[in-house]
Amino acid sequence: MATAISSDRMLVFVPPHPLIKHWVSVLRNEETPCAVFKNAMAELGRLLIYEASRDWLPTISGEIQSPMAVASVEFIDPREPVMVVSILRAGLALVEHASAILPATKTYHLGFQRDESTLLPSLYFNNLPNKFPEGSRVLIVDPMLATGGTIVAAMDLLKDCGVENKQIKIISAVAAPPALQKLSQQFPGVHVYTGIIDPDVNENGYIIPGLGDAGDRCFGT
Ligand code: URA
Repeated sequence: MATAISSDRMLVFVPPHPLIKHWVSVLRNEETPCAVFKNAMAELGRLLIYEASRDWLPTISGEIQSPMAVASVEFIDPREPVMVVSILRAGLALVEHASAILPATKTYHLGFQRDESTLLPSLYFNNLPNKFPEGSRVLIVDPMLATGGTIVAAMDLLKDCGVENKQIKIISAVAAPPALQKLSQQFPGVHVYTGIIDPDVNENGYIIPGLGDAGDRCFGT
């Protein structure tokens, strides 16, 4: 497991797996067709969620009878589901395999629209509960951490639901320094798992080199 940026405030992981490099490369290519792009986003999400869930899931142990003998076993505790929070639209693709990988999940959605002149997010959909049960583990799935406006707004909503920063892991396809700096300054203790860290964000809020508009490319709009 590679740690790209590490401080006492935040950890950013870029898992050094060739499949992660492969799917990021497919996403970057402007000639990748929409259906292939969406599938690449879903596969990248599968790998990043797998890495993020390492050492994070509560288990229950016991004994079961196999066809051959009694065996000691460990299962994921279904009483403590991971609360998955997907940021619309492209989060839908990155989160596609979450419930297949994680045996116990509840999935919520947040919809933000970015004002193209101010680059500020405005919330148009939110089905988070008023409070999450104490100690809930939360996985936020936001493909593009660019200026940081959207992820900061999502983190503020989770804080209002009583979730501690150290209980939150963020999954993203591409992350850029402005968003990572805001997360580190405002939400110490949060963990980020990303496919790659890119160097820049342009004046329109797009990550450079990035992959363009992730939502448009997933859904062909
Ligand atoms: N959102 C995107 O879809 N792409 C970017 O580069 C930045 C934000």
